[in-house]
Amino acid sequence: MLNDLKEYYGQIIKSVDDLKTSTCSCDANSLPAEIKEILTEIDDEIIEKFYGCGSPIPPVLNGKTVLDLGCGSGRDVYIFSKIVGEAGNVIGVDMTKEQLDVANKYVKPQMEKFGYKRTNVEFKLGYIEDLKAIWIADNSIDVITSNCVINLSPDKKSVFKEIFRVLKPGGELYFSDIFSGRRVPDALKSDPVLRGECLSGAMYVEDFRRLMTEVGFADYRLTESVRSPINNPEIEAKIGMVDYYSMTVRAFKLDLEDICEDYGQVATYKGTISGHPHFFDLDDHHRFFTGKPMLVCGNTAAMVGDTRFGEHFKVSGDKSVHFGAFGAVPTEETPNDGGGCGC
Ligand SMILES: C[S@@+](CC[C@H](N)C(=O)[O-])C[C@H]1O[C@@H](n2cnc3c(N)ncnc32)[C@H](O)[C@@H]1O
Repeated sequence: MLNDLKEYYGQIIKSVDDLKTSTCSCDANSLPAEIKEILTEIDDEIIEKFYGCGSPIPPVLNGKTVLDLGCGSGRDVYIFSKIVGEAGNVIGVDMTKEQLDVANKYVKPQMEKFGYKRTNVEFKLGYIEDLKAIWIADNSIDVITSNCVINLSPDKKSVFKEIFRVLKPGGELYFSDIFSGRRVPDALKSDPVLRGECLSGAMYVEDFRRLMTEVGFADYRLTESVRSPINNPEIEAKIGMVDYYSMTVRAFKLDLEDICEDYGQVATYKGTISGHPHFFDLDDHHRFFTGKPMLVCGNTAAMVGDTRFGEHFKVSGDKSVHFGAFGAVPTEETPNDGGGCGC
């Protein structure tokens, strides 16, 4: 199966125009202005071979070490190279030699364009299921990103276990991928085109949740979720009722609980993250306005307090007193006239 994929991305697909659906491609117009600006400094050949489905680029990266799983021809690696700065490091991993050949060809010219004296990127030929084999150490990475790749893996559990292993404590997985609203029928899984187009390997959202819990990510958040169109009637007919979503997921290597619990903690955003003077969106349901104290659950308090975001937040309170599940109505306020179970 992996050999079919190598052939698909190494020989069959030569540029984004060769893709048969619009699932594994995203519109560069939807990118934030600062990323569009960086793209003007990246070579056209790299951009033509970009097959990502989102924009998994979180803030607060200066000087950090970033790992891009399935980096392809390196578009996102070079974007991160510019964002982490000369003191940071970016590692791209991909199993397809042809893709890495393109990425490697531009290392020197890109470093020159960015005005760097040292090279801050490295491309490694290898499998995302086994990062040990390419010498990526335990607890060594600040941020892991991936753009439309994990769906392709036949062994997603190994991928997420490896991610958990190599992240530093408090480190973040921030990735975009294709997910499905129902399990893809087994009969479609061996079709190389459906696989290569990120359709037949897409993770069913609830199975993804189960897998994340199993490997240690008890709570993760979505920053974006949009319906992903296929735009190919023949392939749509094969795929049948399966609905697809392009989602961006953020998960931290923290000791979190499986549901939000209330410890009376309050988090206030200082407005100090570059490019986010007025508010910071942790996820699709937490917008922190600058200076406004917000009651948060224990998991959210850890996500903004015990990670690289910590210097940008004031978090008050600890977990010494528990007030029940976050957002639950206290029992004495729940009307119950004694007749029936009340549920
Ligand atoms: C849809 S492309 C995305 C490439 C890149 N992230 C981008 O945005 O352009 C998928 C890439 O993942 C790589 N890939 C797929 N499965 C992989 C695996 N198990 N290990 C390493 N690379 C893999 C392929 O070689 C291909 O370059």
